[in-house]
Amino acid sequence: MSSTIPAMSARQMSLDLPIVSASRLVKVYGSDETMVRALDEVDVAFQTGSFTAIMGPSGSGKSTLMHCLTGLDRATSGQIWLAGNRLDSLDDTDLTKLRRDEIGFIFQSFNLLPTHTAKENILLPLNLAGRRADKQLFNQLVDSLGLTKRLNHLPSQMSGGEQQRVAVARALVSQPKVIFADEPTGALDSKNSTRLLEYLRDASTLRGQTIIMVTHDATAASFADRALVLADGHIIDDIADPAHHLTAATVRTWDTSRAPGVPEVMVPEVQTTTLSQLAQATGTPATSPARAYSPVGAYDPNQGAL
Ligand SMILES: Nc1ncnc2c1ncn2[C@@H]1O[C@H](COP(=O)(O)OP(=O)(O)OP(=O)(O)O)[C@@H](O)[C@H]1O
Ligand SMILES: [Mg+2]
Repeated sequence: MSSTIPAMSARQMSLDLPIVSASRLVKVYGSDETMVRALDEVDVAFQTGSFTAIMGPSGSGKSTLMHCLTGLDRATSGQIWLAGNRLDSLDDTDLTKLRRDEIGFIFQSFNLLPTHTAKENILLPLNLAGRRADKQLFNQLVDSLGLTKRLNHLPSQMSGGEQQRVAVARALVSQPKVIFADEPTGALDSKNSTRLLEYLRDASTLRGQTIIMVTHDATAASFADRALVLADGHIIDDIADPAHHLTAATVRTWDTSRAPGVPEVMVPEVQTTTLSQLAQATGTPATSPARAYSPVGAYDPNQGAL
């Protein structure tokens, strides 16, 4: 008699191994009286295909955690593993390559190039890496993010929400294994916010991508399957199924310092960035065709990825 092993879904199997993890992670900024211990012995692991919300009051270390986990910022001590690589064993070139190949990062402050249109910004990291975008995915992405009619606009000609969606498309178009998103809905209205969160949830459940998303918003966190709560550089709670176990009232209690009437979701200052900063942040090694894109004004996206 033959025995049948129950079929496991790809998601179940992939959930066995953490794709991102950190052990005793410490990040200290400054020294003496200006010293801030932004992360204090943090142990954390994220399974492949999971969708985690990182929550906690302003200044609790959420962005610092994201920046350290991606190698954008070097940790003071502790160990970090990302897609099978120990980050502190990699030199800058390998680290940059790892970021380029495995990670999409949606920055809290968007980091768009002011001289580039929406389309150019979205495709820039792929072009810098000498890769082509999947045309169907690109069209689907800009359509689902409501950007189709804004592709030829410069950041200065777009609203904050539109710029945020461009930053989202830029992070997703390369189909990275892990998507780090720092307040990705901070500047979005509820309709666009819901669309983006559904997209991220599908990326996790249907495509096995791992999502690590900072949010102050209980509704946004309800799309995730786990919420980690940071306070003063420590993880103080790990909540399974936040849709059922987290309320807006609970979120408010974490930030007792916030004055009455100040909104829970702070829209970040919109910042732009330079080509070299973006190239570094999105993972373009020094040896890549990135150098061919100087001067920036000569860049023609139509000769690039699409
Ligand atoms: N480059 C830096 N130099 C010095 N201190 C810093 C630096 N970046 C962050 N900090 C400090 O580290 C702590 C954690 O900052 P972080 O940006 O990670 O907070 P956060 O949880 O992301 O806050 P928010 O919700 O406001 O974005 C804060 O006290 C902050 O002032
Ligand atoms: Mg932050």
